[in-house]
Amino acid sequence: MEQELVSLQNQAREQLATIQNTSQLEAFRIRFLGRKGQFSTIMKRLGKVPKEDKPRLGLLANGAKREIEALYSEKQTALASGDSGVSQCCNTIDLTLPGRKPVPGKLHPVTQIMNEVCSIFEGLGFAVAEGPDVEHDHYNFEALNIPAHHPARDMHDTFYVSDSILLRTHTSPMQARIMETQQPPLRVIAPGKVYRCDSDITHTPMFHQVEGFLVDKNVSFADLKGVLTIFTQKMFDKELELRFRPSFFPFTEPSAEVDIACVICDGKGCRVCKRTGWLEILGAGMIDPEVFKKVGYNPEVYSGFAFGLGIERIAMLKYGIDDIRLYYENDLRFLSQF
Ligand code: DAH
Repeated sequence: MEQELVSLQNQAREQLATIQNTSQLEAFRIRFLGRKGQFSTIMKRLGKVPKEDKPRLGLLANGAKREIEALYSEKQTALASGDSGVSQCCNTIDLTLPGRKPVPGKLHPVTQIMNEVCSIFEGLGFAVAEGPDVEHDHYNFEALNIPAHHPARDMHDTFYVSDSILLRTHTSPMQARIMETQQPPLRVIAPGKVYRCDSDITHTPMFHQVEGFLVDKNVSFADLKGVLTIFTQKMFDKELELRFRPSFFPFTEPSAEVDIACVICDGKGCRVCKRTGWLEILGAGMIDPEVFKKVGYNPEVYSGFAFGLGIERIAMLKYGIDDIRLYYENDLRFLSQF
């Protein structure tokens, strides 16, 4: 009987080690540990062994059964946590199952347009400069010929951090920041985030602009027209008509708002251009002599032009999107189309 117990214990150990799933484990339990299992059968026979052998054999049988029960519950836990405890062999993995493709990430459409705008201007010899989002009132307004209480400040819906610190409302402060530290000739674009307390279908409190300016001797409005014509044609991939409408900005004189022939209907009139055939895409003008004086440039010697454009607006026109908020809802059904 002693022999039998040892061999049963060994057999149980060996079999348990090869078990890989719960149905095999259940079959094992019934065979070894169940009411009619092999350990129970041996236990029953204990009653019939000679009295003097009983305590020793009883101890042995109980010890063997307890060990196998412990190994059994260890296995049960291992299987429940997905680990069979047996080294996985290739035939347990179904190699014919189709794989799961990882979804590759993409640049946000606003970033894509921003990069495109920058690379067009870089191709025209402009350098890229970046400045702070949290800006001094001085650069955002004063240096751009917009003194305190000037009515033009109303248009900016400014987020103030303190009396003299604010979130920049446009990228134009970069004109003053660059001109203050560098001498002409200058050809610079400044892309970045800007902030205005405004929110509706065509406005978000944060959006992106690119400011551009060129300063040298003998720069004229014709140069501005040339640069903007090349830019819009490259940006929209077609020969577009441009329209300069007289306008006012305190930091440019003369100033203009620039329209392109509607890219959706080719100027015939549609929903996007509100039947006018034209789409406004940027503000521009010749840099005001007052701005030059504040940075110590002689306006008798130097002249220059500047322009500012909204990235989301260009993206909306390019793709015919009429709600700017779509760019910031993070809906993959929208974003994955670009
Ligand atoms: N900074 C202006 C705005 O955000 C846009 C602008 C207009 C920039 C005319 C310019 C410019 O450089 O010449 O409304």
